[in-house]
Amino acid sequence: MKGKVLINFALTICFFFCCSSGRVIESPHYKVIHVESDFEIRQYKQISWMSALVQGTASFEKSTEQGFHRLYQYMHGANSNSYHFLFTSPVTTTIMTLTREPERLVRYYLPIMNAENPPLPNSELNVHFEKWRNNCLAVRRFPGFAKDDNINKEIDALKSSLSKYLPESAAVSEYTIAQYNSSRRLLGRLNEVWLDVSGFTTEGCQPL
Ligand SMILES: *[C@@H]1O[C@H](CO)[C@@H](O)[C@H](O)[C@H]1NC(C)=O
Repeated sequence: MKGKVLINFALTICFFFCCSSGRVIESPHYKVIHVESDFEIRQYKQISWMSALVQGTASFEKSTEQGFHRLYQYMHGANSNSYHFLFTSPVTTTIMTLTREPERLVRYYLPIMNAENPPLPNSELNVHFEKWRNNCLAVRRFPGFAKDDNINKEIDALKSSLSKYLPESAAVSEYTIAQYNSSRRLLGRLNEVWLDVSGFTTEGCQPL
């Protein structure tokens, strides 16, 4: 187990090292709808993802690593065209809060050129194509490494900043941590907490 985790970690580092230098890294486009000192509301028109569901571990770090390992294989040829994808950012991990067992969805953002008909994943990877349409997200940035012991603080801070906009009864069923930088970058790192506010806000992003 330990060995496998180390291999995953090494792969991740190697991947970022090989593929992230000297190239413009594609990220999803969005429009900023509303800005406050500690968060903003963004509208994302359409985003295509490959996503890997990870069950059975509550650890954010472990589930991100396991999911990313499967996505990594997809991106490196384990698909119907043996196609190799470009690195994009962010890699996101969505934490479902209402499921009985821990469930996390780890996502790789598909570059625009692959956003419509990406090659099919090899079935044993259990990764799936997914499209978001017109999402309205509340976003809080935080620096450093996103870890099990700091993400909850950031999530709570975003929830409390949003509390004046959210109805008391609004149950948050999921939130997402977006990580933008390779693990070998130690300084100047960017992460975000994303909360879907499509249903709640009238600040410009209209409900679907
Ligand atoms: C981390 O990613 C963000 C967003 O892509 C970028 O602006 C920043 O320069 C990156 N930091 C480093 C150290 O590469």
